[in-house]
Amino acid sequence: MELIDNACASFEKVFGTPASACGVAPGRVEVLGNHTDYNEGFILSAAIDRHVIICGRKVEGKTATVHATAYGVSESFEIDGLMKQDANFWINYIEGVVEQLVKMGFNIGGFEAVIDGNVPLGSGLSSSAALEVATLLFLKELYPFEMDMIKVATTAQAAENQFVGVNCGILDQFSSAMGKKDHLIFLDCRDLSGYDHVPIGSDCELVIANTKASHSLADGTYNRLRESCFAAAKYFNGVLDKTVTHLRDVIFEEFEKNVDGLDSADMPRAKHVVTENERVLTGVAALKSGDLKTMGECMQSSHYSSRDDFGNSCKELDIMVECAQGIDGLYGCRLSGGGFGGCTVNLVAADKAESFSKELATRYQDKTGLVPEMHICKAADGAFGKSF
Ligand code: GLA
Repeated sequence: MELIDNACASFEKVFGTPASACGVAPGRVEVLGNHTDYNEGFILSAAIDRHVIICGRKVEGKTATVHATAYGVSESFEIDGLMKQDANFWINYIEGVVEQLVKMGFNIGGFEAVIDGNVPLGSGLSSSAALEVATLLFLKELYPFEMDMIKVATTAQAAENQFVGVNCGILDQFSSAMGKKDHLIFLDCRDLSGYDHVPIGSDCELVIANTKASHSLADGTYNRLRESCFAAAKYFNGVLDKTVTHLRDVIFEEFEKNVDGLDSADMPRAKHVVTENERVLTGVAALKSGDLKTMGECMQSSHYSSRDDFGNSCKELDIMVECAQGIDGLYGCRLSGGGFGGCTVNLVAADKAESFSKELATRYQDKTGLVPEMHICKAADGAFGKSF
């Protein structure tokens, strides 16, 4: 992989010695299932052929020094004295992983490393989850321990929840760890062993359109949306004749019958999650039977539900979705990931992907004056570590 060679060359340039190992993890795109993961619902996603690489070597002692090529900056920390940092925020993803491994009793020592790769940063394609997963697999090469890939995903998620402070669900880390070439990942977030790889087929491509509206989940908005969903689940637990621990337990008929007593801010959020779970199941069934039209319709209504009910779209995402309508080859499109900026994902007929991508970029630029970043992506295999 050329990216690994480039990262290793950067390591040698910065640290003056060759790297001995690397961790490589793909970004991800959420195809359906917006904010369903922490509600223990369903998701459909893909690891994409854009990767974060961390490579380096062990050093004596307990100091870690990491250089981020994207910023041209190095940062250090003590393994025995982990501390959240405001400047060079990216180091927190690495410290968070180290903290989890140390807590599990693994003996992690010092290291030097370089982070490199081609996942667009801060655009909703989970460069941070990829960094967490890649870091874990890199450290597993340097200081070997046993861990299966589902545990890798949940450990990386715990790093983000506990150290970085974003209470994200499992979507990003799971997709990065468990991807499969040419397949989407269907996951029941209540039971992580309940996943399936669904062939995406050679007839379509994922065109990802970065609005260039910046996106960050670390400011507390995400955690507030999550709290709203949990409050709604609590309400349904009180009024339904069954146990509701998460919105996953509520079906649309139950929602409709009991909607009147629900807090007015929580109501549309709960509606989105309940209907979104149904859209994921419909979309997966359609995909399995080769019905791309229905799959596309599910994506389209998912966007409108995020926009109108959940409230996590933004002007640029809505414009990108509207600009895509009517372009030849489109099955469906929607915002992808946390929301409030970042990317849309477009399911497009394979032979139209190039022309679709160009036309969408032109229309969006004409409307907004912003130059979008377009990525025609393939579903990729999940993360791995490697020693040289
Ligand atoms: C972010 C989070 C995920 C998920 C999505 C929304 O990407 O990290 O866990 O909640 O938003 O579906």
